[in-house]
Amino acid sequence: MTMDDDLSRIGVSLPKTLLDRFDEILNYRGYSSRSEGIRDAIRTYITYYKWMSDVKGEREGVITMVYDHDQRNLLTTITDIEHEHHNTIKASIHSHVTPNRCLEVILIHGDGSQLKALAERLMAQKGVKSVKLNTIPIDT
Ligand code: NI
Repeated sequence: MTMDDDLSRIGVSLPKTLLDRFDEILNYRGYSSRSEGIRDAIRTYITYYKWMSDVKGEREGVITMVYDHDQRNLLTTITDIEHEHHNTIKASIHSHVTPNRCLEVILIHGDGSQLKALAERLMAQKGVKSVKLNTIPIDT
């Protein structure tokens, strides 16, 4: 961190299991403090956002998504979003990983901005634990 960075204090509410897992990783990786881990996590989030912003032109790829099966209305919401993007989605595979966790792999094709919009929409839903977008350009 540079010396001229002003520090802001924030209060965040997190599920205990999420925080426990985060602390476990920080411990394993030898972080000196939770704050440093959170700063790194936020930087990674920003980097990933920027990387997604570079998804342009005609592309094909996959969205890999993990979500909570027990989250109220989430399955319906996801299905609605996927139907809205029917022109982009070519196929999807759903795996019931545990009694309450689902893994879905969605094969997509279209303009980068559409693929990104779909991934970001899914990412924003409560109960969606992770969304990864991986694409390749068609014409290179
Ligand atoms: Ni499932």
